[in-house]
Amino acid sequence: MGFSMKKLWAVLVVLLVELGVRVWGSSVSQAVIGAKADLKGSMQEKAERETFAAPDWSVYHKTDEILDELRELDETCNHMRLEPAAVPGVDDSEVPLVVVLGYNVKNRLREMVSSAFQSKTRIVAVFGEHGRELITSEVALKVVQDICNGEGTDAETARDELQRSEVHLVPVLGASSRRLAEMGEYCERLNSNGVDLNRNWGFLWGKTDTTTIAEEERPGTEPFSENESRAVKALVESVRPDAFVSVHSGDKAMLLPWDHRPELPDRDEYEKMGKVAGIVAQEHCESCQIGNVYKLFGYNAFGTAGDWAFGSAKVPYTYTWEIYGDFSSARDDCFRMFNPADQETYNEVLANWSTSFFTLAAAIHTANERLNAIPLPKQLITNGQNRASTPSRRYGFASEWRRRGQGGIEPLLARSYGVLLLEFMIALMAVFAFTAVALYLRKSASKSTSRSMEPFKLA
Ligand SMILES: *[C@@H]1O[C@H](CO)[C@@H](O)[C@H](O)[C@H]1NC(C)=O
Ligand SMILES: *[C@@H]1O[C@H](CO)[C@@H](O)[C@H](O)[C@H]1NC(C)=O
Ligand SMILES: [Zn+2]
Repeated sequence: MGFSMKKLWAVLVVLLVELGVRVWGSSVSQAVIGAKADLKGSMQEKAERETFAAPDWSVYHKTDEILDELRELDETCNHMRLEPAAVPGVDDSEVPLVVVLGYNVKNRLREMVSSAFQSKTRIVAVFGEHGRELITSEVALKVVQDICNGEGTDAETARDELQRSEVHLVPVLGASSRRLAEMGEYCERLNSNGVDLNRNWGFLWGKTDTTTIAEEERPGTEPFSENESRAVKALVESVRPDAFVSVHSGDKAMLLPWDHRPELPDRDEYEKMGKVAGIVAQEHCESCQIGNVYKLFGYNAFGTAGDWAFGSAKVPYTYTWEIYGDFSSARDDCFRMFNPADQETYNEVLANWSTSFFTLAAAIHTANERLNAIPLPKQLITNGQNRASTPSRRYGFASEWRRRGQGGIEPLLARSYGVLLLEFMIALMAVFAFTAVALYLRKSASKSTSRSMEPFKLA
Protein backbone atom coordinates (compact mmCIF):
# COMPACT_ATOMS: atom_id res chain seq x y z
CA MET A 1 0.00 0.00 0.00
CA GLY A 2 2.70 2.47 1.08
CA PHE A 3 4.82 1.50 -1.89
CA SER A 4 2.08 2.05 -4.47
CA MET A 5 1.31 5.40 -2.87
CA LYS A 6 4.93 6.42 -3.41
CA LYS A 7 4.76 5.16 -6.96
CA LEU A 8 1.72 7.36 -7.55
CA TRP A 9 3.65 10.35 -6.21
CA ALA A 10 6.54 9.51 -8.50
CA VAL A 11 4.24 9.39 -11.52
CA LEU A 12 2.73 12.71 -10.51
CA VAL A 13 6.15 14.31 -10.13
CA VAL A 14 7.25 12.95 -13.50
CA LEU A 15 4.11 14.34 -15.10
CA LEU A 16 4.71 17.72 -13.49
CA VAL A 17 8.30 17.71 -14.71
CA GLU A 18 7.15 16.76 -18.16
CA LEU A 19 4.64 19.62 -18.13
CA GLY A 20 7.26 22.03 -16.83
CA VAL A 21 9.71 21.04 -19.53
CA ARG A 22 7.09 21.34 -22.23
CA VAL A 23 5.91 24.77 -21.12
CA TRP A 24 9.47 25.90 -20.62
CA GLY A 25 10.49 24.46 -23.97
CA SER A 26 7.61 26.03 -25.83
CA SER A 27 8.13 29.40 -24.18
CA VAL A 28 11.80 29.23 -25.07
CA SER A 29 11.07 28.21 -28.63
CA GLN A 30 8.44 30.93 -28.86
CA ALA A 31 10.96 33.40 -27.56
CA VAL A 32 13.41 32.18 -30.16
CA ILE A 33 10.81 32.42 -32.92
CA GLY A 34 9.85 35.87 -31.63
CA ALA A 35 13.46 36.99 -31.52
CA LYS A 36 13.99 35.69 -35.06
CA ALA A 37 10.87 37.54 -36.24
CA ASP A 38 12.02 40.68 -34.43
CA LEU A 39 15.38 40.40 -36.10
CA LYS A 40 13.82 39.85 -39.50
CA GLY A 41 11.34 42.70 -38.92
CA SER A 42 14.00 45.00 -37.67
CA MET A 43 16.25 44.17 -40.61
CA GLN A 44 13.42 44.96 -42.97
CA GLU A 45 12.59 48.16 -41.20
CA LYS A 46 16.10 48.97 -40.19
CA ALA A 47 16.83 51.17 -43.16
CA GLU A 48 13.76 53.29 -42.61
CA ARG A 49 13.88 53.28 -38.81
CA GLU A 50 17.59 53.74 -38.34
CA THR A 51 17.08 57.35 -39.15
CA PHE A 52 13.74 58.26 -37.59
CA ALA A 53 10.93 59.47 -39.78
CA ALA A 54 10.92 63.13 -40.74
CA PRO A 55 8.30 65.24 -42.49
CA ASP A 56 8.31 65.41 -46.26
CA TRP A 57 8.06 69.17 -46.75
CA SER A 58 6.53 68.76 -50.16
CA VAL A 59 3.55 67.25 -48.33
CA TYR A 60 3.58 68.96 -44.92
CA HIS A 61 3.47 72.73 -44.50
CA LYS A 62 5.79 74.85 -42.44
CA THR A 63 3.89 77.11 -40.01
CA ASP A 64 4.56 80.19 -42.13
CA GLU A 65 3.28 78.41 -45.22
CA ILE A 66 0.04 77.61 -43.41
CA LEU A 67 -0.39 81.20 -42.28
CA ASP A 68 0.47 82.53 -45.76
CA GLU A 69 -1.96 80.17 -47.40
CA LEU A 70 -4.71 81.25 -45.00
CA ARG A 71 -4.04 84.89 -45.84
CA GLU A 72 -4.22 84.06 -49.51
CA LEU A 73 -7.50 82.18 -49.12
CA ASP A 74 -8.87 85.12 -47.15
CA GLU A 75 -8.51 87.37 -50.19
CA THR A 76 -11.07 85.50 -52.25
CA CYS A 77 -13.11 83.33 -49.87
CA ASN A 78 -16.48 84.71 -48.76
CA HIS A 79 -17.05 82.05 -46.13
CA MET A 80 -14.05 82.91 -44.01
CA ARG A 81 -12.72 85.84 -42.05
CA LEU A 82 -9.15 85.93 -40.82
CA GLU A 83 -8.38 87.93 -37.71
CA PRO A 84 -5.72 87.98 -35.02
CA ALA A 85 -6.89 86.75 -31.64
CA ALA A 86 -7.32 89.59 -29.21
CA VAL A 87 -4.89 89.35 -26.31
CA PRO A 88 -4.97 92.32 -23.96
CA GLY A 89 -1.62 94.11 -23.99
CA VAL A 90 -0.06 91.94 -26.70
CA ASP A 91 0.76 93.10 -30.20
CA ASP A 92 -1.31 91.58 -33.02
CA SER A 93 1.79 90.20 -34.69
CA GLU A 94 2.54 88.05 -31.63
CA VAL A 95 -0.82 86.32 -31.32
CA PRO A 96 -2.33 83.30 -33.02
CA LEU A 97 -4.55 83.83 -36.06
CA VAL A 98 -8.23 82.94 -35.88
CA VAL A 99 -10.27 81.82 -38.88
CA VAL A 100 -14.01 82.42 -38.59
CA LEU A 101 -15.96 80.15 -40.91
CA GLY A 102 -19.57 81.07 -41.64
CA TYR A 103 -21.82 81.24 -44.65
CA ASN A 104 -20.88 84.47 -46.44
CA VAL A 105 -19.28 85.62 -43.22
CA LYS A 106 -17.27 88.26 -45.11
CA ASN A 107 -20.45 90.13 -45.79
CA ARG A 108 -20.85 91.63 -42.35
CA LEU A 109 -24.20 93.21 -43.11
CA ARG A 110 -25.68 89.91 -44.25
CA GLU A 111 -24.17 88.23 -41.23
CA MET A 112 -25.69 90.76 -38.84
CA VAL A 113 -29.11 90.26 -40.39
CA SER A 114 -28.90 86.50 -40.40
CA SER A 115 -27.67 86.25 -36.84
CA ALA A 116 -30.46 88.56 -35.70
CA PHE A 117 -32.97 86.01 -36.98
CA GLN A 118 -31.20 82.84 -36.02
CA SER A 119 -28.99 81.80 -33.18
CA LYS A 120 -26.15 79.83 -34.67
CA THR A 121 -24.35 76.84 -33.27
CA ARG A 122 -20.87 78.09 -32.46
CA ILE A 123 -17.75 75.97 -32.28
CA VAL A 124 -14.25 76.95 -31.22
CA ALA A 125 -11.54 74.51 -32.30
CA VAL A 126 -7.83 74.85 -31.54
CA PHE A 127 -5.06 72.98 -33.35
CA GLY A 128 -1.37 72.53 -32.71
CA GLU A 129 -1.36 73.13 -28.97
CA HIS A 130 1.65 70.79 -29.00
CA GLY A 131 4.24 71.47 -31.70
CA ARG A 132 5.09 67.87 -32.55
CA GLU A 133 1.47 67.22 -33.54
CA LEU A 134 2.08 68.79 -36.95
CA ILE A 135 -0.79 66.95 -38.62
CA THR A 136 -3.43 68.79 -36.58
CA SER A 137 -2.66 72.15 -38.20
CA GLU A 138 -2.62 70.44 -41.60
CA VAL A 139 -6.19 69.33 -40.90
CA ALA A 140 -7.14 72.90 -39.96
CA LEU A 141 -5.81 74.20 -43.26
CA LYS A 142 -7.71 71.50 -45.14
CA VAL A 143 -10.95 72.44 -43.35
CA VAL A 144 -10.60 76.02 -44.57
CA GLN A 145 -9.50 75.01 -48.10
CA ASP A 146 -12.51 72.71 -48.46
CA ILE A 147 -14.97 75.35 -47.29
CA CYS A 148 -13.49 77.93 -49.64
CA ASN A 149 -12.69 75.85 -52.72
CA GLY A 150 -13.95 72.32 -52.09
CA GLU A 151 -16.07 70.54 -54.68
CA GLY A 152 -18.41 67.60 -54.32
CA THR A 153 -21.20 66.74 -51.92
CA ASP A 154 -19.11 66.75 -48.73
CA ALA A 155 -17.96 70.31 -49.31
CA GLU A 156 -21.51 71.35 -50.27
CA THR A 157 -22.93 69.78 -47.12
CA ALA A 158 -20.28 71.52 -45.03
CA ARG A 159 -21.08 74.91 -46.58
CA ASP A 160 -24.79 74.27 -46.06
CA GLU A 161 -24.15 73.56 -42.41
CA LEU A 162 -22.51 76.99 -42.15
CA GLN A 163 -25.90 78.61 -42.80
CA ARG A 164 -26.80 77.78 -39.21
CA SER A 165 -23.35 77.37 -37.63
CA GLU A 166 -20.14 79.26 -37.12
CA VAL A 167 -16.76 77.61 -36.65
CA HIS A 168 -13.89 79.55 -35.11
CA LEU A 169 -10.58 77.84 -35.80
CA VAL A 170 -7.20 78.57 -34.30
CA PRO A 171 -5.18 76.66 -36.90
CA VAL A 172 -1.76 76.92 -35.23
CA LEU A 173 -2.07 77.74 -31.54
CA GLY A 174 1.43 76.74 -30.52
CA ALA A 175 3.27 78.34 -33.45
CA SER A 176 6.55 78.64 -31.53
CA SER A 177 6.30 74.99 -30.49
CA ARG A 178 5.54 73.87 -34.05
CA ARG A 179 8.48 75.85 -35.39
CA LEU A 180 10.77 73.97 -32.99
CA ALA A 181 9.36 70.69 -34.30
CA GLU A 182 9.90 71.90 -37.84
CA MET A 183 13.57 72.49 -37.07
CA GLY A 184 13.97 68.83 -36.10
CA GLU A 185 12.75 68.72 -32.49
CA TYR A 186 10.15 66.13 -33.43
CA CYS A 187 9.29 65.33 -29.81
CA GLU A 188 8.70 68.96 -28.84
CA ARG A 189 5.48 69.67 -27.00
CA LEU A 190 6.46 72.90 -25.23
CA ASN A 191 6.35 76.45 -26.56
CA SER A 192 9.41 78.67 -26.86
CA ASN A 193 9.04 79.63 -23.17
CA GLY A 194 9.28 75.94 -22.24
CA VAL A 195 5.59 75.77 -21.29
CA ASP A 196 3.15 72.98 -22.08
CA LEU A 197 0.16 74.99 -23.29
CA ASN A 198 -2.24 72.22 -22.35
CA ARG A 199 -1.26 72.63 -18.68
CA ASN A 200 -1.36 76.43 -18.60
CA TRP A 201 -5.11 76.96 -18.14
CA GLY A 202 -6.75 78.43 -15.08
CA PHE A 203 -8.71 75.42 -13.89
CA LEU A 204 -6.90 73.44 -11.18
CA TRP A 205 -3.71 74.89 -12.62
CA GLY A 206 -0.41 73.46 -11.35
CA LYS A 207 -1.93 70.69 -9.26
CA THR A 208 -0.35 67.25 -9.22
CA ASP A 209 -1.25 63.79 -7.96
CA THR A 210 0.22 60.29 -7.87
CA THR A 211 -0.23 59.87 -11.63
CA THR A 212 1.79 63.01 -12.36
CA ILE A 213 5.36 62.61 -13.59
CA ALA A 214 6.43 65.84 -11.94
CA GLU A 215 9.55 66.57 -13.98
CA GLU A 216 7.50 66.34 -17.16
CA GLU A 217 4.92 68.90 -16.16
CA ARG A 218 5.62 72.38 -17.49
CA PRO A 219 2.52 74.39 -16.57
CA GLY A 220 4.19 77.83 -16.72
CA THR A 221 4.71 80.37 -13.96
CA GLU A 222 1.01 81.02 -13.39
CA PRO A 223 -2.36 80.21 -14.97
CA PHE A 224 -2.57 81.81 -18.43
CA SER A 225 1.03 82.96 -18.29
CA GLU A 226 1.23 82.36 -22.05
CA ASN A 227 -0.07 84.52 -24.91
CA GLU A 228 -1.47 81.46 -26.64
CA SER A 229 -3.74 80.29 -23.84
CA ARG A 230 -4.79 83.87 -23.06
CA ALA A 231 -5.73 84.29 -26.72
CA VAL A 232 -8.04 81.28 -26.66
CA LYS A 233 -9.48 82.30 -23.30
CA ALA A 234 -10.43 85.67 -24.78
CA LEU A 235 -11.85 83.99 -27.88
CA VAL A 236 -13.99 81.54 -25.92
CA GLU A 237 -15.23 84.28 -23.62
CA SER A 238 -16.31 86.46 -26.54
CA VAL A 239 -17.75 83.74 -28.80
CA ARG A 240 -19.35 81.74 -25.96
CA PRO A 241 -19.39 78.59 -28.06
CA ASP A 242 -21.65 75.56 -27.81
CA ALA A 243 -18.64 73.35 -28.41
CA PHE A 244 -14.92 73.57 -27.71
CA VAL A 245 -12.53 71.14 -29.38
CA SER A 246 -8.83 70.88 -28.65
CA VAL A 247 -7.34 68.85 -31.49
CA HIS A 248 -4.32 66.65 -30.75
CA SER A 249 -2.58 63.58 -32.14
CA GLY A 250 -0.81 60.54 -30.70
CA ASP A 251 -3.88 58.36 -30.37
CA LYS A 252 -7.34 57.88 -31.80
CA ALA A 253 -9.87 58.97 -29.23
CA MET A 254 -12.51 61.50 -28.40
CA LEU A 255 -11.84 62.66 -24.87
CA LEU A 256 -14.61 64.08 -22.74
CA PRO A 257 -14.19 65.88 -19.39
CA TRP A 258 -12.74 65.58 -16.90
CA ASP A 259 -9.00 65.58 -17.52
CA HIS A 260 -8.07 66.00 -13.85
CA ARG A 261 -9.85 63.09 -12.21
CA PRO A 262 -11.06 59.55 -12.91
CA GLU A 263 -14.70 60.29 -12.06
CA LEU A 264 -17.02 61.34 -14.85
CA PRO A 265 -19.01 64.60 -14.79
CA ASP A 266 -22.74 64.79 -14.19
CA ARG A 267 -24.28 61.84 -15.98
CA ASP A 268 -26.72 63.80 -18.20
CA GLU A 269 -24.01 66.18 -19.36
CA TYR A 270 -21.58 63.34 -19.97
CA GLU A 271 -24.05 61.25 -21.94
CA LYS A 272 -25.08 64.24 -24.03
CA MET A 273 -21.44 64.87 -24.97
CA GLY A 274 -20.94 61.15 -25.49
CA LYS A 275 -23.89 60.87 -27.88
CA VAL A 276 -22.68 63.77 -30.01
CA ALA A 277 -19.13 62.36 -29.99
CA GLY A 278 -20.61 59.05 -31.11
CA ILE A 279 -22.13 60.67 -34.21
CA VAL A 280 -18.81 62.31 -35.09
CA ALA A 281 -16.88 59.08 -34.46
CA GLN A 282 -19.25 57.06 -36.60
CA GLU A 283 -18.61 59.30 -39.59
CA HIS A 284 -14.99 60.26 -39.07
CA CYS A 285 -13.27 57.80 -36.76
CA GLU A 286 -14.88 54.44 -36.27
CA SER A 287 -12.01 53.13 -34.18
CA CYS A 288 -11.99 56.15 -31.85
CA GLN A 289 -12.48 55.38 -28.19
CA ILE A 290 -14.73 57.75 -26.26
CA GLY A 291 -14.07 58.48 -22.60
CA ASN A 292 -11.93 60.56 -20.27
CA VAL A 293 -8.15 60.76 -19.99
CA TYR A 294 -7.80 58.68 -16.85
CA LYS A 295 -10.00 55.82 -18.00
CA LEU A 296 -8.38 55.66 -21.43
CA PHE A 297 -4.76 56.61 -20.74
CA GLY A 298 -4.39 56.10 -17.01
CA TYR A 299 -3.28 59.50 -15.76
CA ASN A 300 -4.81 62.78 -14.68
CA ALA A 301 -3.90 66.12 -16.24
CA PHE A 302 -4.29 69.47 -14.50
CA GLY A 303 -4.74 72.92 -15.99
CA THR A 304 -5.87 71.65 -19.39
CA ALA A 305 -7.77 73.55 -22.06
CA GLY A 306 -10.65 71.08 -21.90
CA ASP A 307 -11.13 71.28 -18.14
CA TRP A 308 -11.04 75.07 -18.28
CA ALA A 309 -13.56 75.18 -21.16
CA PHE A 310 -15.92 72.79 -19.39
CA GLY A 311 -15.33 73.77 -15.77
CA SER A 312 -14.77 77.53 -16.00
CA ALA A 313 -16.23 78.68 -19.32
CA LYS A 314 -19.11 76.18 -19.04
CA VAL A 315 -18.96 75.10 -22.65
CA PRO A 316 -21.59 72.32 -22.80
CA TYR A 317 -19.84 70.20 -25.45
CA THR A 318 -16.16 70.07 -24.59
CA TYR A 319 -13.77 67.67 -26.31
CA THR A 320 -10.17 66.79 -26.85
CA TRP A 321 -9.90 64.93 -30.14
CA GLU A 322 -6.94 62.64 -30.73
CA ILE A 323 -7.06 62.29 -34.49
CA TYR A 324 -4.11 60.04 -35.33
CA GLY A 325 -1.44 57.89 -33.67
CA ASP A 326 1.04 55.21 -34.71
CA PHE A 327 1.56 52.73 -31.85
CA SER A 328 4.08 50.69 -33.80
CA SER A 329 6.56 53.53 -33.94
CA ALA A 330 9.80 53.13 -32.04
CA ARG A 331 10.33 55.07 -28.85
CA ASP A 332 11.65 58.55 -29.66
CA ASP A 333 10.48 58.25 -33.27
CA CYS A 334 8.12 61.09 -32.47
CA PHE A 335 7.36 62.32 -35.95
CA ARG A 336 6.03 58.89 -36.85
CA MET A 337 4.28 58.46 -33.52
CA PHE A 338 2.23 61.63 -33.84
CA ASN A 339 1.97 62.12 -37.60
CA PRO A 340 1.34 60.09 -40.73
CA ALA A 341 4.76 59.41 -42.24
CA ASP A 342 3.56 58.66 -45.78
CA GLN A 343 1.47 60.73 -48.13
CA GLU A 344 -1.30 58.17 -48.48
CA THR A 345 -2.00 58.12 -44.74
CA TYR A 346 -1.61 61.88 -44.59
CA ASN A 347 -4.34 62.27 -47.22
CA GLU A 348 -6.51 59.76 -45.39
CA VAL A 349 -6.29 61.66 -42.11
CA LEU A 350 -7.13 64.94 -43.86
CA ALA A 351 -10.05 63.34 -45.68
CA ASN A 352 -11.30 61.64 -42.50
CA TRP A 353 -11.37 64.82 -40.42
CA SER A 354 -11.83 67.77 -42.77
CA THR A 355 -15.62 67.90 -42.46
CA SER A 356 -15.81 66.63 -38.87
CA PHE A 357 -16.53 70.07 -37.39
CA PHE A 358 -19.65 70.40 -39.52
CA THR A 359 -20.77 66.94 -38.50
CA LEU A 360 -20.24 68.12 -34.93
CA ALA A 361 -22.33 71.24 -35.53
CA ALA A 362 -25.12 69.20 -37.12
CA ALA A 363 -24.99 66.64 -34.29
CA ILE A 364 -25.38 69.42 -31.73
CA HIS A 365 -28.48 70.65 -33.57
CA THR A 366 -29.90 67.15 -33.46
CA ALA A 367 -29.00 66.73 -29.78
CA ASN A 368 -30.65 70.01 -28.86
CA GLU A 369 -33.82 69.03 -30.67
CA ARG A 370 -34.20 65.33 -29.86
CA LEU A 371 -31.49 63.95 -27.63
CA ASN A 372 -33.43 60.77 -26.91
CA ALA A 373 -33.31 59.77 -30.56
CA ILE A 374 -29.51 59.53 -30.46
CA PRO A 375 -28.17 56.22 -29.15
CA LEU A 376 -25.31 56.05 -26.69
CA PRO A 377 -22.24 54.98 -28.66
CA LYS A 378 -21.02 51.45 -27.92
CA GLN A 379 -17.49 52.60 -27.21
CA LEU A 380 -18.47 55.24 -24.63
CA ILE A 381 -16.67 54.55 -21.36
CA THR A 382 -18.96 54.43 -18.34
CA ASN A 383 -18.15 54.85 -14.66
CA GLY A 384 -17.23 51.27 -13.86
CA GLN A 385 -14.96 50.86 -16.88
CA ASN A 386 -11.29 51.45 -17.25
CA ARG A 387 -9.33 50.79 -20.43
CA ALA A 388 -5.97 52.09 -19.32
CA SER A 389 -4.69 48.56 -18.90
CA THR A 390 -1.63 48.29 -21.12
CA PRO A 391 1.59 49.88 -19.88
CA SER A 392 1.80 52.09 -22.93
CA ARG A 393 -1.54 53.63 -22.13
CA ARG A 394 -0.96 53.69 -18.42
CA TYR A 395 2.10 55.86 -18.86
CA GLY A 396 0.65 57.99 -21.62
CA PHE A 397 3.12 56.44 -24.02
CA ALA A 398 1.53 57.79 -27.15
CA SER A 399 -0.53 60.83 -26.42
CA GLU A 400 1.51 62.59 -23.79
CA TRP A 401 5.01 61.52 -24.74
CA ARG A 402 7.78 63.02 -22.72
CA ARG A 403 9.76 65.90 -24.01
CA ARG A 404 12.54 64.76 -26.32
CA GLY A 405 11.98 61.16 -25.23
CA GLN A 406 13.81 61.47 -21.92
CA GLY A 407 13.19 59.43 -18.78
CA GLY A 408 10.18 57.37 -17.79
CA ILE A 409 9.37 53.72 -18.14
CA GLU A 410 10.14 51.63 -21.21
CA PRO A 411 7.08 49.40 -21.58
CA LEU A 412 8.77 46.90 -23.91
CA LEU A 413 11.57 46.31 -21.44
CA ALA A 414 9.05 45.81 -18.64
CA ARG A 415 7.29 43.20 -20.72
CA SER A 416 10.40 41.21 -21.53
CA TYR A 417 11.44 41.20 -17.86
CA GLY A 418 8.06 39.62 -17.15
CA VAL A 419 8.66 36.87 -19.69
CA LEU A 420 12.15 36.25 -18.31
CA LEU A 421 10.81 35.93 -14.78
CA LEU A 422 8.19 33.43 -15.90
CA GLU A 423 10.79 31.35 -17.70
CA PHE A 424 13.06 31.44 -14.70
CA MET A 425 10.27 30.22 -12.39
CA ILE A 426 9.33 27.38 -14.74
CA ALA A 427 12.96 26.33 -14.97
CA LEU A 428 13.27 26.42 -11.18
CA MET A 429 10.16 24.25 -10.85
CA ALA A 430 11.60 21.74 -13.30
CA VAL A 431 14.89 21.54 -11.39
CA PHE A 432 13.07 20.98 -8.08
CA ALA A 433 10.94 18.25 -9.62
CA PHE A 434 13.94 16.48 -11.16
CA THR A 435 15.76 16.60 -7.85
CA ALA A 436 12.75 15.17 -6.02
CA VAL A 437 12.45 12.26 -8.47
CA ALA A 438 16.19 11.57 -8.36
CA LEU A 439 16.21 11.54 -4.57
CA TYR A 440 13.21 9.23 -4.44
CA LEU A 441 14.67 6.82 -6.97
CA ARG A 442 18.00 6.75 -5.15
CA LYS A 443 16.27 6.13 -1.85
CA SER A 444 14.20 3.21 -3.14
CA ALA A 445 17.25 1.78 -4.94
CA SER A 446 19.32 1.83 -1.73
CA LYS A 447 16.40 0.15 0.07
CA SER A 448 16.22 -2.72 -2.41
CA THR A 449 20.00 -3.38 -2.24
CA SER A 450 20.32 -3.03 1.56
CA ARG A 451 19.32 -6.64 2.21
CA SER A 452 22.03 -8.32 0.19
CA MET A 453 24.82 -5.94 1.12
CA GLU A 454 25.22 -4.94 4.76
CA PRO A 455 26.03 -1.24 4.86
CA PHE A 456 29.14 -0.06 6.72
CA LYS A 457 28.59 1.07 10.24
CA LEU A 458 30.02 4.49 10.65
CA ALA A 459 29.49 4.98 14.29
C1 LIG B 1 3.94 86.79 -25.98
O1 LIG B 1 3.83 88.19 -26.12
C2 LIG B 1 4.94 88.93 -25.69
C3 LIG B 1 4.62 90.38 -25.72
O2 LIG B 1 4.23 90.79 -27.01
C4 LIG B 1 6.13 88.55 -26.60
O3 LIG B 1 7.28 89.23 -26.17
C5 LIG B 1 6.37 87.05 -26.52
O4 LIG B 1 7.37 86.65 -27.42
C6 LIG B 1 5.11 86.27 -26.83
N1 LIG B 1 5.32 84.87 -26.56
C7 LIG B 1 5.20 83.91 -27.47
C8 LIG B 1 5.52 82.52 -27.02
O5 LIG B 1 4.82 84.12 -28.59
C1 LIG C 1 -9.97 56.88 -41.88
O1 LIG C 1 -11.26 56.43 -41.53
C2 LIG C 1 -11.54 55.07 -41.81
C3 LIG C 1 -12.98 54.81 -41.44
O2 LIG C 1 -13.25 55.19 -40.10
C4 LIG C 1 -10.57 54.18 -41.05
O3 LIG C 1 -10.76 52.84 -41.37
C5 LIG C 1 -9.15 54.58 -41.38
O4 LIG C 1 -8.24 53.84 -40.58
C6 LIG C 1 -8.94 56.06 -41.13
N1 LIG C 1 -7.60 56.41 -41.53
C7 LIG C 1 -6.67 56.92 -40.69
C8 LIG C 1 -5.33 57.12 -41.25
O5 LIG C 1 -6.91 57.22 -39.54
ZN1 LIG D 1 -1.16 67.00 -27.65
